[in-house]
Amino acid sequence: MLDGKKTLFSGMQATGNLTLGNYLGALKNWVSLSDDYLTFYSVVDMHSITIRQDPAELRKRARTLLTLYIAAGLDPEKNCIYYQSHVSGHAELAWILNCFTYMGELNRMTQFKDKAAKHADNINAGLFTYPVLMAADILLYQTDVVPVGIDQMQHLELTRDIAIRFNNLYGDVFTIPEAYIGKSGAKIMSLQDPSKKMSKSDENPNGSIYLMDDPDTIIRKCKRAVTDSEACVRYRDEQPGIKNLIDIYCACLNKTPDEVEREFDGKGYGDFKLAVGEAVVSVLKPLQDRFADLSKNKDYLDKVIKENAEKASWYSNKTLRKVQKKIGFPERIR
Ligand code: TRP
Repeated sequence: MLDGKKTLFSGMQATGNLTLGNYLGALKNWVSLSDDYLTFYSVVDMHSITIRQDPAELRKRARTLLTLYIAAGLDPEKNCIYYQSHVSGHAELAWILNCFTYMGELNRMTQFKDKAAKHADNINAGLFTYPVLMAADILLYQTDVVPVGIDQMQHLELTRDIAIRFNNLYGDVFTIPEAYIGKSGAKIMSLQDPSKKMSKSDENPNGSIYLMDDPDTIIRKCKRAVTDSEACVRYRDEQPGIKNLIDIYCACLNKTPDEVEREFDGKGYGDFKLAVGEAVVSVLKPLQDRFADLSKNKDYLDKVIKENAEKASWYSNKTLRKVQKKIGFPERIR
């Protein structure tokens, strides 16, 4: 809770090109939640450097992601949209929380194990303590709810454990955050392999629809989506490719699978795939247009970046000062 309002925090990394899966699974939910909470949506660039990055590329992607947040419908007057690296409290609290987190806990994190295996030549300490920085992100804002995907649940559990441990030692300092798991159907799978999540790091570009794909590309990718030979548009596990396309169609047009089955009863996959492509275009085209407009408006974006970093700093400092006092750091002389 901050200012008597429930607080929501979430963040995304500026690595890779965002996909339709990121939009339908995360961003779209963020927009729908933004009226009910005091919201903080961060571009978590400090997390990104746990994997080696090209500096110019990272800077560019971070700005693109922040612009996309706004293009997707998050009003930066109402939602605090900012770069993690602009708010020093994240690093400061992360250091403190490192001292309240056990090696054994971090050793159990499956994402660390996966990433360490994938980047065996660069298993740095930051990759290991990544979840502690994430805990700092969340706890700095006295966050009540955190919209996250299933893959981040373990990190959120750890965040709760750290917060409870800290509160047990020092009194009620942190709000204990809860996960907010989006509505079902929002998990979008690869168009080329519906057993895999649609991913920004997929080597096969036909598996993912990128937010910046032009309409022709989107339609082409949908037409080429891997399906089956049942030749009926049915929402069932035995037809994972079709099921995924129905999920996409539903998420884009706010329909239910039942409605879609009825709509395409007796129709072939060609018709259906085209309709899915058109539904995706109807969602992404306006977003792309807004993105293009925003990108032209450098002064406006810079102002948003500056003001929201100040706002985030103000709130995060409230928590940070409290924590520093509790653990015995000397008081600041003003
Ligand atoms: N680790 C998250 C991811 O890769 C991103 C993230 C960083 C995050 N800090 C966060 C998500 C705090 C939610 C809350 O998806």
